Amino acid sequence: MISPCLEVNERGHLAISGCDTVELAGQYGTPLYVMSEDEVRRVCRSYVQSFQKFYGGHGCPIYASKAFSCKEICRIVASEGLDLEVVSGGELYTALQAGVAAEREHFQGNNKSAGEISFAIESGVGDIVVDSFSELQMVERIAEEHNTTAQISLRVKPGIDAHTHDFIRTGQIDSKFGIDLVSGEAMEAVRQSLGLEHVHLKGLHCHIGSQILEVEPFVHAAAVMLELLAKVKEELGVELGHLNLGGGFGVHYTEQDNAVPYEDYMAAVSAMVHEKCEKLGLSQPKIYIEPGRSVVAEAGITLYTVGTIKEIPGVRNFVSIDGGMFENPRYALYQAEYTCLLANRAGEPADYIATIAGKCCESGDLIQEHTPIQRPEMGNILAVLTTGAYNYSMASNYNRNLKPPCVMVSQGESRIIIKGETYEDLVRNDV
Ligand code: LLP
Repeated sequence: MISPCLEVNERGHLAISGCDTVELAGQYGTPLYVMSEDEVRRVCRSYVQSFQKFYGGHGCPIYASKAFSCKEICRIVASEGLDLEVVSGGELYTALQAGVAAEREHFQGNNKSAGEISFAIESGVGDIVVDSFSELQMVERIAEEHNTTAQISLRVKPGIDAHTHDFIRTGQIDSKFGIDLVSGEAMEAVRQSLGLEHVHLKGLHCHIGSQILEVEPFVHAAAVMLELLAKVKEELGVELGHLNLGGGFGVHYTEQDNAVPYEDYMAAVSAMVHEKCEKLGLSQPKIYIEPGRSVVAEAGITLYTVGTIKEIPGVRNFVSIDGGMFENPRYALYQAEYTCLLANRAGEPADYIATIAGKCCESGDLIQEHTPIQRPEMGNILAVLTTGAYNYSMASNYNRNLKPPCVMVSQGESRIIIKGETYEDLVRNDV
């Protein structure tokens, strides 16, 4: 199985953290998001332990909550010692409601509104990651109005092109995120920040992309960013104490995905950090990384009930489910790959080639094409694996479908962490 929390149980059913998925589907209905608390905690611990091992604890992992933001996930991740990254007033509100201390929150975004910046400053957010010159001025002005000093860092575009889907690459020059390093703008932004009265520049940040399955781009990014820190020290006489190297670590969607173990990233990047600091005469800054997907993706699965099956000879077999792009838009958006299987026949061979179709009025509403599953019948339970990241968080009400509930499982027990929507919820804000 592609995630350690999954197995086929003695009844031949798919089980997650000791819970039979067919029973979960019966108890809570479908579609259903299921998240393993045990797996989320296991990954968090592996990150925290890596920071001990490779940086002597001088650093901290940050969970990028855009991957899956809800109160219970924020609570669990924070309780394991991770900071939280938020990218909107809504994610900030969720994290605060979950009881995560504002000082442990890092506020990202390429176009934060004045309202969001005020909210962050009033809440005492520990790190506003400034993305542009205009935002720097806006933060200074709003902090002055609040008669306070905003804690900031600067998002730098390091000019590194990671090999991943075009829509989720962010480190290259042609990106809407961050302040360009190569042209000297990043240096200028540091200079300006240091001259402002109501901001305190803590450090620098970069993020080169997502679902990256190689170590090299991360090592390269670390080297480039440390060289920038050294240049700041040399030209401006200031040693910045924080360096956030972003997220982007790849996970297993299929057996073919060659996801690098986290320890290997940490080992390679930390070796570069230590080497560069020594060579450049820098004290090692506090290192942050900012993973979202890898914290939650493999902890999650989605369960559906199989409905209509249409076999078109010589063309394809459409197997329709009671979900679709409204609760998982990733195939429609990125042709994302997934592993699918029949949860109630997980022990049988997957020798039927299916196109899994959603229920939205849209031909592109597919979850996967030409994928092997067990021979399906109406009423079977279909499981899609590795849906813990960017599924619930990207869900919509397209076609006025209801966002499904989310159940958290741990050691054979289950509990609802997000209630399913109702029809009343749909019209709540309609006038
Ligand atoms: N930090 C920043 C500034 C980011 O923009 C992101 C992701 C992360 C951290 C976390 O990256 P991760 O570890 O999750 O790869 N919706 C797309 C993914 C978009 C990622 C956006 N930024 C998907 O479903 O694949």
